[in-house]
Amino acid sequence: MRLRFGVSAGLEPAVRRELELRGLKPFDESRGAVHLDADAELAARLTLGIRTSSRIVWELGDGIPPATEALLTELTAWPWESWLPREHSFAVRAVGRSDALRHSTYAARVVKDAIRDRFRARGLECPPVDPVSPRLLVDLRIGRDGAALGLDLGAGSLHQRGTGRRGRAPLREDVAAGLAHLAAVDSGTPLLDPFCGTGTFLAEAFAVAHGLPAGRHPARTALIRLPAFRELPLSELAAAERATPPEEHPPVRGSDADPAAVDAARQQLARLGLDESIRVRVCTLDQLQPPRGEAGLILTNPPWGLRLDEGVEESWHALGQFARQLPGWQLAALCGDPALSRQLGLKASRRHPVRIAGIDTRLLMYTMRAPR
Ligand SMILES: C[S@@+](CC[C@H](N)C(=O)[O-])C[C@H]1O[C@@H](n2cnc3c(N)ncnc32)[C@H](O)[C@@H]1O
Repeated sequence: MRLRFGVSAGLEPAVRRELELRGLKPFDESRGAVHLDADAELAARLTLGIRTSSRIVWELGDGIPPATEALLTELTAWPWESWLPREHSFAVRAVGRSDALRHSTYAARVVKDAIRDRFRARGLECPPVDPVSPRLLVDLRIGRDGAALGLDLGAGSLHQRGTGRRGRAPLREDVAAGLAHLAAVDSGTPLLDPFCGTGTFLAEAFAVAHGLPAGRHPARTALIRLPAFRELPLSELAAAERATPPEEHPPVRGSDADPAAVDAARQQLARLGLDESIRVRVCTLDQLQPPRGEAGLILTNPPWGLRLDEGVEESWHALGQFARQLPGWQLAALCGDPALSRQLGLKASRRHPVRIAGIDTRLLMYTMRAPR
């Protein structure tokens, strides 16, 4: 099976790192996608366990000329009846455009018609189409090299971790995990997030550092509905993609000025079973004491203009002052506005551009040195 892992642009190296830490070797990477060959069991395990990808698509074919007639001819020759069971509804999600297929809704309709024609030509009943809450998703991607078709193994976005968390400016879980990979978090380094909000960065960074898979339930994916995975012991595979956090580890701490956010963080961490591993408390950055002991990593998403407004510059300035008290530490800060990061008064050693929710951001990395 050829798999495509969808990811926010700039986080492709994070997906690659997560796969490589599992001993896997992706064969290709392009903007917003990483590709891997896998058998059905590995595809199922990754659907249940991967953290950094928001979508896993089993690619059925590509390079189809992106025009109506070509799609209809090509796709009616594909064995859709062996991929799509008649008892589950489906929808086509289309992304991209070509000269002939300018509107994604039209392109999706062409694919849906081709699938219907295929069933009809064999005297079979076509599965129902449900554009609102389909049980299976056919993925159509129209690009410069033609159209690619696949089946979404997650049947939707894989970012949620089942905690139902809400925050003022929360980071999506897959993005937080990806940023943690870019910052190269590891199991031997203390972690600190002084703008922890609902605790997503802490939870994902801790999980990434200790190699804890996402632990999705098969029922929340398309695996249980697709014939290609029917023979697999999905419950056993899901158990293998669940891990308990280690009891011993360097300190992982978070704080935030907003008591409601810290409350939400505590609830989220408890639901994830990480409340014993990660401590969070209400504290403004100017009140926070620099941690003692081994040097660690500050991994944080401070407020930035478009999302939160009051006292934003002051927060960045205070972060620079705070980090200066921690020689030997690393600072990794997500920023969507270069004018704000200048408030740190520090020189970045690395900058990772990442596009998040349509905004060009950067994960800025700094190494804190002892004052001369
Ligand atoms: C962009 S949000 C962080 C979101 C977080 N990563 C999440 O996923 O929920 C920035 C956070 O910084 C907090 N904050 C702003 N100024 C602060 C300060 N001076 N000290 C501590 N926290 C502050 C806000 O309450 C907010 O929760």
